[in-house]
Amino acid sequence: MAHIIGGVACSHIPSLGSAIAKGLQEDPYWKPFFDGFPPVRDWLQTAQADVAVVFYNDHGLNFFLDKMPTFAVGAAATYSNADEGWGIPVTDPLNGNQELSWHLIDRLIQDEFDIVSCQEMLVDHAFTIPLKLLWPDKCPVTVVPICINTVQFPLPSAKRVFALGQAVGRAIRGWDASKNVVILGTGGLSHQLDGARAGFINKKFDLEFMDSLLNEPQWATRFSIEELVEQSGTQGVELLMWLAMRGALGDAKEFKIHKVHENYHIPISNTATGLIAFECA
Ligand code: DHB
Ligand code: FE
Repeated sequence: MAHIIGGVACSHIPSLGSAIAKGLQEDPYWKPFFDGFPPVRDWLQTAQADVAVVFYNDHGLNFFLDKMPTFAVGAAATYSNADEGWGIPVTDPLNGNQELSWHLIDRLIQDEFDIVSCQEMLVDHAFTIPLKLLWPDKCPVTVVPICINTVQFPLPSAKRVFALGQAVGRAIRGWDASKNVVILGTGGLSHQLDGARAGFINKKFDLEFMDSLLNEPQWATRFSIEELVEQSGTQGVELLMWLAMRGALGDAKEFKIHKVHENYHIPISNTATGLIAFECA
């Protein structure tokens, strides 16, 4: 059976793509962010993942307001990146794992998650930048994207997203394949890009959320979407991806989950950035 080695959640910001392309990792503005990653990369190097299941939110590249699935699972052979207007370098296509995609789609539908399956899917900065941060040279894993709507209201509740993560974790652990799977969640933490509260950041809430994830992962499910927007900003609600990732890892005691590393830094662009990595025994 497949093994979940652990999970990583981190922020995704388009300007990180430009900073990587320009080699600015040691620049004083960027360094406190990029310095979070070496311990996580070292762990990934040792843990040797074969596949990454990536919870992320599309920003209008693959899905637009005319067609907006709440939950969509990729089932493509490859996933191409396209510039969504941020002027960042377009990365090479990523190889999908269609066997795992269809296994997840089957199991999620059986589990009464009415997901959309996508045999073609363009992926945006929320997908490509975290992979570049984790594997700067060549991406060694095949991928399965799971896209959660955080763009067009109504959004799925934190409770439902956590349950989706749990169902994905059960499905992976029921996949008859000798593969190591890592779960990724990308987005957040607190930020708001427009409106009267543009620039909004809530460090207290972010740190409480990060602290809750290991042993009290359902802490954030007490909040409605409106309350999450109030606490973390209109785009801070991307923290839903972190919840899905953590849901997929399962119970902390049962799977002997421990924290590998974490980092928090304000700001990169308009965002309070976070990074967290968990290992499962
Ligand atoms: C920024 C953050 C995001 O999550 C995003 O998708 C786009 C831009 C930012 O802070 O610039
Ligand atoms: Fe975003």
